[in-house]
Amino acid sequence: AAPMPASLSFEQAAALPLTAITAWEALFDRLRVPSPPHAVPRKRLLVIGGAGGVGSVAVQLAAKVAGLEVIATASRPSSVAWVRELGAHHVIDHFGDMQAQLKTLGIEQVDYVLILNDTDRHFPAAAAIVAPQGTVCTIVENKDALDVSLLKSKSAGLVWEFMFTRSMYATPDMVEQGRLLEEVARLVDTGILRSTVSEVLSPINAANVRKAHALLEGGHVIGKVVLKD
Ligand SMILES: NC(=O)c1ccc[n+]([C@@H]2O[C@H](COP(=O)([O-])OP(=O)(O)OC[C@H]3O[C@@H](n4cnc5c(N)ncnc54)[C@H](OP(=O)(O)O)[C@@H]3O)[C@@H](O)[C@H]2O)c1
Repeated sequence: AAPMPASLSFEQAAALPLTAITAWEALFDRLRVPSPPHAVPRKRLLVIGGAGGVGSVAVQLAAKVAGLEVIATASRPSSVAWVRELGAHHVIDHFGDMQAQLKTLGIEQVDYVLILNDTDRHFPAAAAIVAPQGTVCTIVENKDALDVSLLKSKSAGLVWEFMFTRSMYATPDMVEQGRLLEEVARLVDTGILRSTVSEVLSPINAANVRKAHALLEGGHVIGKVVLKD
């Protein structure tokens, strides 16, 4: 727990904690992205599913806080515009050949890959795109076995992020989630990060819960949908 950002309304703030914890832990605890200033050239991150709830925080943190060169994936004009507004330097389509699209941008490899959607589909491409000694992080469970040997010759790593790990196992560093939320609130209040709420449905009733679920099941939500009484 941490105080909410003073500059946000309750619905703007409600969009943030779960996704901010996930994105923060994925970048700084699992991928171990260092704090800036970095060595030159700047390290690169590919965020697969950049416009979703977690992606919308990850793109901002990576570009504005960690100082990475960020390539986000999005497949529609509105989601492409959204990730660009959040700070993505390049946008490619997750339904196309991502490696070929990166080559067109002059990018052969990236240091970090963050998979936020359909791990089964994207893991082979992530393994092809990640740099030697780089790291792939996913937050979405695979349905079939993943061929982790694809990472062997590169000595690349695969790491998981699950935002309930610390509380589920009552790890000794559980308090870190409160600390990171305090830092996220500070970054919001100083104008570095913004809320990712894209739609507020009110009041909280069966019809709006059904509508929110339908939006999520459609798979193309931008940012976060918030229910408000
Ligand atoms: N491990 C954890 O701790 C944790 C925490 C939070 C969420 N999650 C999981 O992470 C996933 C993402 O959740 P979320 O709320 O951030 O996002 P979301 O709302 O599920 O994602 C929507 C976004 O995904 C993009 N997308 C749709 N199909 C895709 C595909 N095949 N490949 C790549 N991107 C695709 C869409 O972009 P376009 O419209 O541009 O196609 C859309 O902007 C969910 O499965 C969720 O359960 C895990």
